[in-house]
Amino acid sequence: MTIVQKLRLGVNIDHVATIRNARGGVHPSPLRAAQLASDAGADGITAHLREDRRHIKDRDIEELKMEVNLPLNLEMAATPEMLKIALKTKPHAVCLVPERREEVTTEGGLDVSRLKDELKRYVEELSAAGIRVSLFINADAKQVEAAAELKAPVIEFHTGAYAHGEKGEYEKILCSSTQAEELNLECHAGHGLNYGNVSKIAAIPIIRELNIGHFLIGEAVFAGLDMAIIEMRVLMDKARKFGA
Ligand code: PXP
Repeated sequence: MTIVQKLRLGVNIDHVATIRNARGGVHPSPLRAAQLASDAGADGITAHLREDRRHIKDRDIEELKMEVNLPLNLEMAATPEMLKIALKTKPHAVCLVPERREEVTTEGGLDVSRLKDELKRYVEELSAAGIRVSLFINADAKQVEAAAELKAPVIEFHTGAYAHGEKGEYEKILCSSTQAEELNLECHAGHGLNYGNVSKIAAIPIIRELNIGHFLIGEAVFAGLDMAIIEMRVLMDKARKFGA
């Protein structure tokens, strides 16, 4: 039987850095956004250090780790450079994501099934350093199975296709989360979630954490970051308690 536990909200602050970098200065500050998110009830801060540093920079990761009173989830590609940074910074968690320079955002899940041998070293070294490793995957039986074989403690489902309204995606997430529970994997989800589509995902009791960025930062322009986070929390908690 699944025990319904509180659903955590990780706030992804990448796009605060996108706006800052547009003028090359220091405003708006991702650190300030993270501190505000903490005050507004976020359970964690997520930031993606991309190979091309298009938004979050190395210094941001250091500041977020040192100065924010919440677990830091570092999203990164499985590369030697990123591994070195993660082992030095020691965030609470690392989410391994696929990365292509030319993509606008992370466009799909990691092909863990194909890259298993390559990823093994990353999962092992990060885990040995006490960092919780999650693998960002599409909701697919083969990928869930490969993640379990790699002994990653967590998987995060890419909800982009669901958010785009692709037929059958919600059912795939539902089915894969049941499979993951049987394999003792903790499930998270994220990408493209907003006020309109979050409830169905939040109502899946096996999913323990949502990571949400673009919509919250965009909504912050109109409502303020704190109000956007509070509203998202209300929707998540409501769906958890009463269903979508
Ligand atoms: N989870 C992961 C692994 C991601 O790569 C991203 C995007 O950086 C998100 C969650 C958040 O997606 P969005 O910005 O669309 O909410």
